[in-house]
Amino acid sequence: MSTTNSPVLPWKTKIILSILDVFSDAVRRTNGTINRRLINFMEPKVPANNIPFQGVKTSDVTIDATRNLWFRLFTPTETPSDVSLPVITFYHGGGFCLLSADAKAYDFVCRRFARKFPAVVVSVNYRLSPEYRFPSHYDDGFDTLKFLDEAKTENFGFPANADLSRCFLAGDSAGGNLAHHVAVRSGKADFKRVRVIGQISIQPFFGGEKLTESEIRLVNVPLIASERTDWMWKVFLPEGENKDHEAVNVSGPRAFDIRGVKYPETMVVVGGFDPLQDRQREFYEWLKRSGKEAKLLEYPKSIHAFYVFPELFESSLFIEEAMDFIRKVCDKVKN
Ligand SMILES: *[C@@H]1O[C@H](CO)[C@@H](O)[C@H](O)[C@H]1NC(C)=O
Ligand SMILES: *[C@@H]1O[C@H](CO)[C@@H](O)[C@H](O)[C@H]1NC(C)=O
Repeated sequence: MSTTNSPVLPWKTKIILSILDVFSDAVRRTNGTINRRLINFMEPKVPANNIPFQGVKTSDVTIDATRNLWFRLFTPTETPSDVSLPVITFYHGGGFCLLSADAKAYDFVCRRFARKFPAVVVSVNYRLSPEYRFPSHYDDGFDTLKFLDEAKTENFGFPANADLSRCFLAGDSAGGNLAHHVAVRSGKADFKRVRVIGQISIQPFFGGEKLTESEIRLVNVPLIASERTDWMWKVFLPEGENKDHEAVNVSGPRAFDIRGVKYPETMVVVGGFDPLQDRQREFYEWLKRSGKEAKLLEYPKSIHAFYVFPELFESSLFIEEAMDFIRKVCDKVKN
């Protein structure tokens, strides 16, 4: 492996990444199941906490107990109550089959978003594969917006200054894929209160049958290995489907045509050491071709999931850019 093909990372990040790789390989079985017992034993989770920590309080809200659909609500506590706050609906990553809204890493990410943006963050705990296949994840993602639209949100702990007419979708990796499909569904929905005005698409997980140049070139980088991603698509897609399915190759020949659909202004985040980067750029180009507002943000030295690691410089840069994006999109709808 040449040095130009290896990201420069602090040793602490490297150790965490190699643990994550070992972990995600250890829990996946060759017979297409996941060892949830091992996950529950090893994966660090944190409970919701009504006592503000780092300027944010949290609570868990159940939408539908029969399918374990719930979200963690993050409310910034240091913003004056007369300042209205955008609402960010967030979908965590994990290849559609790992992690959760109460995973320590994502609790941290959403807390940071809530405090920095500032915003009310709704982090969705959607169903996972292989126990549930496509489109369960998207159904849960969309039903969360429907819940926000229909429920008396103040009864579920929403602050009075949460502004549902300034809703953003955000997600990383598989969560970025989910956000896109929820955005498409929202464009066709008839919401009364919820208005989806923006999307933060962080290194979305897309694919296709034919490998791209970056997928061929970047092997041996953390997290995204084709053996892993192939396994994840296989247990997510309907039986017998391939990676040119509309859920995976979103801008491909079987893609849903979004030209006539309302679609939120989107910021696509790409890392130069992420094998998925070619597909993410293609997604951005496709949004533009379809007449949608989109902006591409490139971090040439960054790996997949870089933003989860606060010790990485680009992670802070990303937060600044996202703040700026949210502010600009909110200003536009005001005028
Ligand atoms: C897969 O393997 C695990 C562990 O060996 C076993 O407990 C499980 O029943 C198997 N599942 C299927 C669907 O074959
Ligand atoms: C995905 O779609 C594109 C066309 O939009 C197509 O060229 C490609 O073969 C498909 N599969 C990939 C990239 O694997």
